[in-house]
Amino acid sequence: MTPLSYFLQRGTAMLMVPLIITHLAVIIMAVQGGLSAEEILSRTRGSMLWAGFYGVFVLAASIHAGIGMQTILHEWTPLGRQASANIGHTLIAILWLLGARAIYAVVWA
Ligand code: HEM
Repeated sequence: MTPLSYFLQRGTAMLMVPLIITHLAVIIMAVQGGLSAEEILSRTRGSMLWAGFYGVFVLAASIHAGIGMQTILHEWTPLGRQASANIGHTLIAILWLLGARAIYAVVWA
């Protein structure tokens, strides 16, 4: 693990703690009146606040999971450092794109 990967892995882990607490709190509040797509969309549609919140969350989770998987692949499979890094980077891109698409769907679509 390079110093940059180490910094990003720990940094994103710390960043996600308040994001996950907020996310759970919103889930608990949202299900009070019964959970429906309408209820979720009425909160997220056109909201730059939620777009920003989930934008940061998705980026942090993508980077964190990609770097974590890179470490696991390197330690548990015969893949070398470079191959593990390539898969990790690809995973970061895939997770980020999927997350960005989901945010687009609930805020703009
Ligand atoms: C607030 C939430 C989270 C915290 C505080 C957290 C914390 C950490 C820490 C400190 C490590 C480093 C372990 C090490 O290198 O010794 C780690 C590794 C890892 N995390 Fe997270 N994490 C969180 C969320 C997530 C999420 C949402 C995912 C998946 C989407 C994830 C996937 C991983 C993976 C795959 C590793 C690599 C495990 C390893 O190196 O053996 N984590 N996490």
